[in-house]
Amino acid sequence: MDVLEAIKGRRSIRAFKSQAVSTEIVEKLIDAARWAPSAGNIQPWEFIIVRNPEIKRNLAKAALNQSFIEEAPVVIVVCADEIRSSQGYGVRGKTLYCIQDAAAATQNIHLVAYSLGLGTCWVGAFNEEEARKILEIPEGVRPVAIIPVGYPAEKPPARNRRPLNQIIHYEKF
Ligand SMILES: Cc1cc2nc3c(=O)[nH]c(=O)nc-3n(C[C@H](O)[C@H](O)[C@H](O)COP(=O)(O)O)c2cc1C
Repeated sequence: MDVLEAIKGRRSIRAFKSQAVSTEIVEKLIDAARWAPSAGNIQPWEFIIVRNPEIKRNLAKAALNQSFIEEAPVVIVVCADEIRSSQGYGVRGKTLYCIQDAAAATQNIHLVAYSLGLGTCWVGAFNEEEARKILEIPEGVRPVAIIPVGYPAEKPPARNRRPLNQIIHYEKF
């Protein structure tokens, strides 16, 4: 699939079929994620793959009861390793680069998932401490995005985007 087609065709999907998503496909998504750019090529990302219904349910609860999370056959939690990034880039690594790197990896997952006929949603509204406990994430590693993944059971229309003339600044802000 053409990159622009994937970028423009992808939608946030919040309803999934019960059809399973194979490990092979999940690994394709993570493989795409690890080809994202990262500051100094530090690659401060970790990915937790969740299929266990109870863990998914607890994650959904930690995410303001966004129940579509537990309805997805598989959930990927993208984490940023603050320690790895801070070793290379200090405070900027810890507070900015590792989050940007994890976000770039997250976007790769969304785009490749869409190109494979899967639906995903970037879930950022969750209680970090609860997610950390549920998934036994160590200190210094930050859960950044929860991504429910499954075959889409809805076809939402495109949401509007701010027009180019409102967001482009030539030469100065
Ligand atoms: C950082 C971030 C956090 C988000 N958190 C949530 C969320 O918690 N729940 C949700 O349903 N969608 C969430 N979204 C998805 C956005 O609502 C969605 O991308 C936006 O409305 C545009 O729609 P589209 O993805 O279909 O183009 C999040 C997206 C981003 C980038």
